[in-house]
Amino acid sequence: MKLDRKEILKALETITIAGEGKNMVESGAVKNVLIFGDEVTIDLLIATPAMHIKKRAEDDIKKLIHEQFSPNAVVKVNIKVEAKENPNEIKGKAIPGISNIIAVASGKGGVGKSTTTANLAVTLAKMGFKVGVLDADIYGPSMPIMFDVENEKPISVEVDGKSKMKPIESYEIKLLSIGFFTSPSQAVIWRGPMASKALNQMIFDADWGNLDFMLIDLPPGTGDIHLSIMQSLPITGAVVVSTPQAVALADAKKGVSMFLSEAINVPVLGIIENMAYFTPEELPNNKYYIFGQEGAKNLALDLQVPFLGEVPIVQSIREAGDYGRPAALQTGSVIETVFEEITRNVVEETVKRNETLAPTEAIKITTMAGCSAVKK
Ligand SMILES: Nc1ncnc2c1ncn2[C@@H]1O[C@H](COP(=O)(O)OP(=O)(O)OP(=O)(O)O)[C@@H](O)[C@H]1O
Ligand SMILES: [Mg+2]
Repeated sequence: MKLDRKEILKALETITIAGEGKNMVESGAVKNVLIFGDEVTIDLLIATPAMHIKKRAEDDIKKLIHEQFSPNAVVKVNIKVEAKENPNEIKGKAIPGISNIIAVASGKGGVGKSTTTANLAVTLAKMGFKVGVLDADIYGPSMPIMFDVENEKPISVEVDGKSKMKPIESYEIKLLSIGFFTSPSQAVIWRGPMASKALNQMIFDADWGNLDFMLIDLPPGTGDIHLSIMQSLPITGAVVVSTPQAVALADAKKGVSMFLSEAINVPVLGIIENMAYFTPEELPNNKYYIFGQEGAKNLALDLQVPFLGEVPIVQSIREAGDYGRPAALQTGSVIETVFEEITRNVVEETVKRNETLAPTEAIKITTMAGCSAVKK
């Protein structure tokens, strides 16, 4: 086929950049297509700086043009990463190498925060992102069990002459948990400042390397401990998990208001409804809304925050959690599909959030040591 700008644009609609959900034309990533003789230049603007994602986009485009248009075409792909402010600079404390920190929270305990965190993490990794999980649940850390690394102890490594804690790796996820430093039988009472000091160390004195996403599994509730964690860490956004019952929804509402309060001021990326309905494994199309229907969706509407999706009650989710292999890793399962959709929404909301900082935050950034937002 002849090299034709319109036809090339149409063909590019078949390529999706990892984590962006929509194809590269629809997502606005393709900024320009230029043709001179047999030379095609394509300008891309993408949201994720990850090297392998850029490389994949470039390879996909070259392959498409060579196969569908002209095997002799000289294809140049210029990729720019959106020069937006690093969200972690909001509080003036960027963490080198970590692009987005997402807190997973709930008002009420036991609604499935840790389960959601673990499954989001493995799904993000499957999409090609580099992911870390920080288990900040000082009351009942559960990530070591969910990732089957209960008996591991992080070792110390030297990075640039400094000793750093090395996260444990499982299913391509880097993991640190407050549980690695206490024995399960020992009830440790962490007070706010002590807990945030331990968490700060796990973030700033650990060898995380480059991460696209760090997920933080927070303890349940909306108490002082959350305040001190939130204020000491540069959180990009929060995801709030709720079940459909009225009590859980009321607590989720408190959770959302906590993040949006002036003292904390963390954008809420959205609400996930867990245990939304029961689906028997052998009848995957039957849905039983045991606790009522669309409670969290309505709450999201009410609070004007995005609704990220619903997770059914499935026996395999619980079993996988206890067994130490997040259920979303099961290829071809309903849970894999469910989490793919939710994770895509989380990524989209993160990208949106990074593009549209509230004016008050933007002002905060410009007054803080002239970081990249000013240059824009
Ligand atoms: N969608 C689901 N289907 C089946 N079981 C689930 C589902 N979500 C969570 N569970 C199970 O419910 C229990 C509580 O979940 P989880 O530990 O994730 O909640 P949590 O909000 O992190 O609790 P905590 O507040 O104690 O930290 C676990 O046994 C988990 O396996
Ligand atoms: Mg938990």
